[in-house]
Amino acid sequence: MKKILVINGPNLNMLGIREPEHYGRETYEMLTEKIKKHAKDVCVQVSFYQSNHEGDLVDKIQEAYQKFDGIVINPGAYTHTSVVILDALKAVGIPTVEVHISDVDSREEFRQISYIRSACVACVKGHGTDGYLEAMDILCSLGE
Ligand code: DQA
Repeated sequence: MKKILVINGPNLNMLGIREPEHYGRETYEMLTEKIKKHAKDVCVQVSFYQSNHEGDLVDKIQEAYQKFDGIVINPGAYTHTSVVILDALKAVGIPTVEVHISDVDSREEFRQISYIRSACVACVKGHGTDGYLEAMDILCSLGE
C-alpha cells in the first residue's frame, strides 16, 4: 500500500473561514476527512501535516525521506517565495504533486509564480479541495 503525506502550509488551517470566495466553505477538518475517505477508496495510507512555519514544513519533508512514496503539498503563500521548500523537495526526491485550491493563474501576478513546481511531477490548481484527491490519483498512477 502506497504511503502518501499531505502537507498544508500557512493559513490552510483557516479553511472555511478565510476568503470563502477563493477557498470555499469546507474547513481543514472536513478536507482531511474527505481525503481519508478517498484514501480508503483508492487503497493508500495517508498522513497529514499542517504548519504556518516554513522551517517546520522543511523538517516534515526531510522526515518523509524513505518513509513516504508520495507527497501532496499545498504550500500556501510559500509557493510564491520559498526556495527552501523547493530544495527540501529536491533533497528527498519523493514524487510530489503541488495543489492549489484556487486558480492561482487567474489571480494576482505574484501567485502565478511557483518556486516549488520544478520539484513536482504535476500541479493541480483551481479545482477546489477536490484537487487534493486528483493529486492522490496522480501519485497512485505513477509506476503502474
Ligand atoms: C493557495 C494559493 C496561494 O496563493 C495562497 O497564498 C494560499 C492558498 C491555494 O490553495 O489556492 O494560501 O495555495
